[in-house]
Amino acid sequence: MKKVYIYKGFERFWHWTQASLIIFLAFTGFEVHGTFTILGFEHAARYHRVASWMLIALIVFAIFWHFVTGEWRQYIPTTKKLKEQILYYAFGMFKGGHHPTQKTQLRKLNPLQRMVYLGFKLFLVPVTIISGVFYMLHKTIDQNNVVVIENIPLEGIALWHTLGAFLLIVFLVIHVYMTTTGHTPTSNIRAMITGYEELENEDENEETTTGEKPKSNHIQEEKK
Ligand code: HEM
Repeated sequence: MKKVYIYKGFERFWHWTQASLIIFLAFTGFEVHGTFTILGFEHAARYHRVASWMLIALIVFAIFWHFVTGEWRQYIPTTKKLKEQILYYAFGMFKGGHHPTQKTQLRKLNPLQRMVYLGFKLFLVPVTIISGVFYMLHKTIDQNNVVVIENIPLEGIALWHTLGAFLLIVFLVIHVYMTTTGHTPTSNIRAMITGYEELENEDENEETTTGEKPKSNHIQEEKK
């Protein structure tokens, strides 16, 4: 086994900040929706808007980072071993089977994760954010009652936004469960905190997905 540096500093910052903001937005958003009353409608709506600007800013930085570092290539979808990966999650892992794909520094996502995360980034998050921005520009509880977008009915916008919010919560629940299916139940979560994960020996000459060679100082051998 080797201790491999999988998640870089910005990636970990971005991951946990995005997760916290989405959870906070879900909490304040469902209060605006009328699901419960804790902060009060006015406060919930104001905090929801502030957090939404923070999320938009974070995503702009994350997009920039993915392109500058070449990390976006890790999300290019593939059907190679996709079936095996699905069968592993559905049956294999309950029978003590082996992971069909090997995680490496340069191929950190399995084929199923690539597809799901790509859908998350290209569909789910944009639908929620775009409908949220439309919601913001629509006549709402703004002090000035500004109407920037009028032609699109607010009901439609609210429907897409709430649908996005529900799907994000479904994603979150499944995502947290899936993080426990690594080598040990906490190994994936610890990796996203420290950056390092214990993995089986990776092939040093392996084709990279980011166009870089593995950096030797990123890999610390550990005798087992
Ligand atoms: C950048 C992203 C987002 C923007 C710009 C945004 C914006 C808004 C706005 C303007 C409202 C109307 C309340 C108000 O006037 O402040 C709203 C409502 C709501 N938001 Fe967001 N939001 C975003 C992300 C999210 C996320 C990530 C979630 C949940 C995971 C969420 C869940 C909700 C819910 C459930 C409502 C109530 C919808 C309704 O009942 O009509 N929002 N959002």
